[in-house]
Amino acid sequence: MTFAYPTESNKAHPARLSPDYKGTVKRAPSKPLIIMRHTLSELTGPVYGHETVRAGDSDLTTQHKGEPIGERIIVHGHVLDEDGRGVPNTLLEIWQANACGRYIHVRDQHPAPLDPNFTGAGRAESDGEGYYRFVTVKPGAYPWGNHHNAWRPAHIHFSVFGYSFVSRLVTQMYFPGDPLFAFDPIFNSVTDAKARERMVSAFDLENTKPEWALCYRFDIVLRGRNATPMETK
Ligand SMILES: [Fe+2]
Repeated sequence: MTFAYPTESNKAHPARLSPDYKGTVKRAPSKPLIIMRHTLSELTGPVYGHETVRAGDSDLTTQHKGEPIGERIIVHGHVLDEDGRGVPNTLLEIWQANACGRYIHVRDQHPAPLDPNFTGAGRAESDGEGYYRFVTVKPGAYPWGNHHNAWRPAHIHFSVFGYSFVSRLVTQMYFPGDPLFAFDPIFNSVTDAKARERMVSAFDLENTKPEWALCYRFDIVLRGRNATPMETK
């Protein structure tokens, strides 16, 4: 028995080769991919440890002794299928730079300070309606050396897991109105303007907590004509 996921949303996703995004020139396959049909074994395993997600894992501001520097924010939304139905029990993982635009990574030598109270990684599981929620700080823009004066717009990396290895999807969430959008080859590797908008969160005043944190809404649509663009490495 074989299964096939719908492919109508594939055009929303960035091409493997986007020459302005220099990393893809070396990384993109130069030969046509060999399509291996998924069978029951790929679609049902290996599975991930959803049950090991703890309540505090979704709050990136309480992982250390003190609070991180920066603008505290709430990021929430729903994981949805192509018909707008919530997808329950989805494992979401995020990683991001700190408020100064610096990752804790040996290759990140951007001369901006590390924050001893911020690791920049968290995870959560969507509830029965597909709803998830993180608390974190707004990441800073950072230089990335792709070309002269190249800066990434502020973003949060998202990984979404279903129940098996082949069902992992990866994308980036951006913040509305970022002046760096027009200059970023990664953002623009999604060539359809409407699809790009689906990677941009919406400012959410209704769920902003007075005196505490601004809120951004980011719904992730897994497939279909409203699919969130996903990385295709
Ligand atoms: Fe990044």
